[in-house]
Amino acid sequence: MKKIDSHILVIFGASGDLTQRKLIPAIFNLFCRGFLPRHFAVLGCSRTSFSDDDFRNKVVYNNEHLKQKKTTSEEEMKRFADQIYYQPVDSSVSNDFEKLKNRLEALDGSWSTRGRYIFYLSTPPSIYEVIPEQLYKYGLTKENDGSWKRLIIEKPFGNSLSSAKALNLELLRYLKEDQIYRIDHYLGKETVQNLLVTRFANSIFEPLWNRNYVHHVEITSAEDVGVEKRGGYYEHSGALRDMVQNHLLQLLAVVAMEPPVQASAKDIRNEKLKLFQSIRPFSHEDIRENVIRGQYMASKIKGKEVKGYREEHGVNPDSRTETYVAMKLFIDNWRWAGVPFYVRTGKRMPTKVTEVVIHFKSTPHHLFAGSNQMHTDNILVIRIQPNEGILLKFGMKVPGEGFNVSRVNMDFLYEDLANAYIPDAYERLLLDCMQGDPTLYARGDSAEATWAIVDPILEAWKEDKEIKMYGYPAGTWGPENADILIGEGKSWRYPCKNLVDDGLYCEL
Ligand SMILES: NC(=O)c1ccc[n+]([C@@H]2O[C@H](COP(=O)([O-])OP(=O)(O)OC[C@H]3O[C@@H](n4cnc5c(N)ncnc54)[C@H](OP(=O)(O)O)[C@@H]3O)[C@@H](O)[C@H]2O)c1
Repeated sequence: MKKIDSHILVIFGASGDLTQRKLIPAIFNLFCRGFLPRHFAVLGCSRTSFSDDDFRNKVVYNNEHLKQKKTTSEEEMKRFADQIYYQPVDSSVSNDFEKLKNRLEALDGSWSTRGRYIFYLSTPPSIYEVIPEQLYKYGLTKENDGSWKRLIIEKPFGNSLSSAKALNLELLRYLKEDQIYRIDHYLGKETVQNLLVTRFANSIFEPLWNRNYVHHVEITSAEDVGVEKRGGYYEHSGALRDMVQNHLLQLLAVVAMEPPVQASAKDIRNEKLKLFQSIRPFSHEDIRENVIRGQYMASKIKGKEVKGYREEHGVNPDSRTETYVAMKLFIDNWRWAGVPFYVRTGKRMPTKVTEVVIHFKSTPHHLFAGSNQMHTDNILVIRIQPNEGILLKFGMKVPGEGFNVSRVNMDFLYEDLANAYIPDAYERLLLDCMQGDPTLYARGDSAEATWAIVDPILEAWKEDKEIKMYGYPAGTWGPENADILIGEGKSWRYPCKNLVDDGLYCEL
């Protein structure tokens, strides 16, 4: 592991949900695992007025998400809390950044961190440009004599191609590209990184990973919950922006990119960019035929009434925001010519699951007459979450007379690895940034390239009133029309059944 320099991690949005739920617990786990440098401090910033002790109580002592291990003593807990500080900062008050600068300089002196800072933007996206500008104005983005400065920026990175470009341009006025870390927590997942190893460290998979052997590929990310308290945010986002533009396209790139020359940040990110550039642009006709959008509707799951999206708090009762999207796309390159990729994501599905399914082609000749070949074709399921692991389905002779074939499983589960510790995605990504390794962060050009893929869909949905929005009952796998998409005698993989049988499917 690369050495981690002493530094200060400044979190903007310190009073918010992400800090409480993900960031502080991730830093705590790094602390418990001994990864943090001896000279290290966290400075939380947001508008709310807290003293250092108030903030420590909120994010450490009273934080239900911070899972204190049995082995963590009270002294250790206190040692962790004592490294955490708070400084009120309102992004619209320039003077607050002067106070921040003074506070940082004082902490830098007392913790001997030599002017090395990570700034984490976990605020509303509307101030993603303001904070770097203020940091720049007060000389806080300037690097000299080993005093590096890095900026982590949360999603969403823009909400269209033009806004992503504008944000990139603005950030580059204050920082260099190699100082900017655009976080996509899907890339921090152990199982996503293992995809690279599965593909490029196994001679049995890579030779098959192309148009000659792969029939089609499915990528599913389903959530069983609805929009919960985030209806207001979701109304302006929708499934395409919230999930596809970032997480699912990043996952697709890891599944489909060419082997990088080396496992370096530059080579891997170059290959991902090439992959995004080879995705066939969606024409208006493609969007009408190959992209399905839907919205969950009220239903009864296990006897309990569940609200429809339009009844959720903060949602317009006539909303046209999609909570489900499924699409068929093609990658126009040598490896994948003619292989359809099916991508779907939705809220209020029957279960929470993210998986990649590689469907291999049938054998060229069906030797065992009478067997249903479709049900014996090889399938490789890479389970990103939950039940992290890899499942290979292959045909086996049913014992007894004749040659009847049925499909059986070869299943690897991470939890079977003795003493395997699977770090949370934020833990891994924070550690990488502390080490100055941007491999698992999105580069500016690829953020723009993924927006270029989804932008025409957003445009068409806005302009073409004839493109349908399908209602699906909460607790089901989404609009029935998505099955037509995959067609060809195949179907999506359904890891479990619909939770409701009699809900209404309709056009909205
Ligand atoms: N929560 C998640 O699971 C999640 C997942 C992925 C990405 N994200 C992204 O992460 C970011 C933060 O999400 P969140 O859920 O933590 O949001 P949140 O709970 O609403 O927190 C926003 C934070 O920003 C601070 N803030 C707001 N306006 C400010 C201003 N003008 N100046 C300084 N601070 C300001 C707020 O504190 P004060 O009101 O005290 O100023 C608060 O600490 C968002 O961009 C979100 O899209 C969140």
